[in-house]
Amino acid sequence: MKIAVLGYGTVGKGVYEMIMRTEGLETGPVLVLPAECTEDFMVTDIRYILEDGSVDLVVEAMGGVEPAGSFCRDVLLAGKHLVTSNKAMVAEYGIELAEIARKREKGFLFSAACGGGVPYLHNLSIAKESDRILSLSGILNGTTNFILDAMQENGSSFEEALAEAKALGYAEADPSADLSGMDSFRKILLACAVTYGKQPCLAADVEGICDLTADDVEVIKERGAAVRLIASGGLNDDGSIYAFVEPKLIFKGMERSVRRNFNCASYKGENSGLITLFGQGAGRYPTASAVLRDITGIAEGKLGMMPEGCEKTGEINGSVQNYFVRCMSEDSNGFHVKEVWKKHNGTVSFITDAQTVEEMHKKAEQIRKEGRRIFFAAVE
Ligand code: HSE
Repeated sequence: MKIAVLGYGTVGKGVYEMIMRTEGLETGPVLVLPAECTEDFMVTDIRYILEDGSVDLVVEAMGGVEPAGSFCRDVLLAGKHLVTSNKAMVAEYGIELAEIARKREKGFLFSAACGGGVPYLHNLSIAKESDRILSLSGILNGTTNFILDAMQENGSSFEEALAEAKALGYAEADPSADLSGMDSFRKILLACAVTYGKQPCLAADVEGICDLTADDVEVIKERGAAVRLIASGGLNDDGSIYAFVEPKLIFKGMERSVRRNFNCASYKGENSGLITLFGQGAGRYPTASAVLRDITGIAEGKLGMMPEGCEKTGEINGSVQNYFVRCMSEDSNGFHVKEVWKKHNGTVSFITDAQTVEEMHKKAEQIRKEGRRIFFAAVE
């Protein structure tokens, strides 16, 4: 099988190297920008790949929604299989691409778009065939986990830890989606799409770690907890979907032991109970290994993971939990405070009474609209 690659960044380069080392696979051309075109195997025009009848499969590892999305559509229309690691692109166009692939009887797999090297989507696509999957959750972003771990365990500053995550190839070129929680949200929405055939689309309740301070880390550590960024999704009782991302204070849960760039992705099946997969969630070779797994899958006849008829849907996040909040003292009036943890320089940290995910995220949005800062995290 001859494979062309779109993009020669962290993932594309890893995929190219791994194809070269894998028996039965052959490297084809690699699409790069004109300024990066330094090797014989590189091309700068997608048409060389689309019109090359010897290329069977294309790996898209460019990142970004466009032009990656248009290129992927053209790849399938040209009658080639498609594998991608691009979560933003699959979140936008995955349903449409799956339809084209199905009509053309070509493969379209995207395991590497969620969990890096952790075979989360791969396992969900199999498990949902024989069990009712009740819920999905996990640490799905390596960059933020690396930052949280470095701040809590090594006393690094946010900026130092982010710089290191960038240097190690974990962060996106523009890390704002990592830090804001959007990268985790895109991953949980892909997990919902693969599992339920319903893809959440609102992104209303997505909170990252941009507002976490070194003081917050100290206060939380003093109480014996650690912060992790958790993505959650699943079925509500009425069959609608929930999906949200928010930091969480972990006292005892297994997420606490997830260090550096690792991901920890769980699902709960009605019969299987809780299943957890653990491994490197970002980085060149872990992510490339997931791409190679998809290539081999297609070679063995597994053509798709997006269910037929998958549709975009709103989400309802009505579950109830207590929250840790740090805000300006006057903003605490908007909360039912259960226990104050610390008062410091006009700010107050406290635990709220139980409230819904939607209520908490809306309150934080309102406070920020009024120009003030807040950090919050669900309590385990
Ligand atoms: N920036 C992503 C992360 C890369 O840190 O998880 C893997 O999807």
